Amino acid sequence: MKSRVVEQIVAGIKTTDGAGVNLRRIIGSPELNLLDPFLLLDEFKSDDKDDYIAGFPSHPHRGFETVTYLMHGAFRHRDSKGNEGHLRSGSVQWMTAGRGIIHSEMPEQEDGQVWGYQLWVNLPQKYKMTEPHYQDIPAEKIPVVEENGRTVKIISGVYDGVEGPAESFIPINYFDVKLEANASFRHPEPMNMNGFIYCYEGEVSVGPEETKVPVGRLAVMGDGDTVELSAGEAGGAFLFLAGERLEEPIARGGPFVMNTKGEVKQAFLDYQNGVLDK
Ligand code: CO
Repeated sequence: MKSRVVEQIVAGIKTTDGAGVNLRRIIGSPELNLLDPFLLLDEFKSDDKDDYIAGFPSHPHRGFETVTYLMHGAFRHRDSKGNEGHLRSGSVQWMTAGRGIIHSEMPEQEDGQVWGYQLWVNLPQKYKMTEPHYQDIPAEKIPVVEENGRTVKIISGVYDGVEGPAESFIPINYFDVKLEANASFRHPEPMNMNGFIYCYEGEVSVGPEETKVPVGRLAVMGDGDTVELSAGEAGGAFLFLAGERLEEPIARGGPFVMNTKGEVKQAFLDYQNGVLDK
């Protein structure tokens, strides 16, 4: 057994996206541009409507998946084909943009807290132009394993023999883990998976070196086949992500992530010509 140690700790940067949503970009920033297959991780968390009310009006995507986990609040999703979905506290939308989607993501509240995460998961070359589709997963469909002061919500992948509802093109483990005082968490993670944790409450210690990861920090895991964490007296909570490395060339252009610059150019042309999602 080789327990993974923390390779890098990342704070992310404050930025603005959509029509003026203030958020923190944790993956996809100069500090951590990419953690194959994860292209981006944004945290939006605010009690002030001015930070989120502008939302994300109509915009395109091609070549990857967006996974939105809404911890608190209400959002409405619409696409150019007339599909509509509603995200509520604790729910997940796993969207496969595939060959093309034009959608909007707008808050359905004018006060109170909005708190959520959007993760971009790259698609393997052979699935980049797959048929777009959605998995709308309400909070009550996400299984929870509770034992020894540890609560694990399983969004995708398998934890302790329990399988999460989201289906993905490559193996992805996505868990939301809460540890009470002095509780611990352990999960086998094959060598071909990249992984990270993002601490969103309290503090956790990672690996045999017990590297401290405080609230608001992402820890990139090094090589190994197991991830081990523990919490101190104050407890802690974190998102746990691991995904199989694609090891394919990446060409990014705004909302499009392809394998070559030519394919990105084609995506812009298809969008301009109104055929991106046809
Ligand atoms: Co979008």
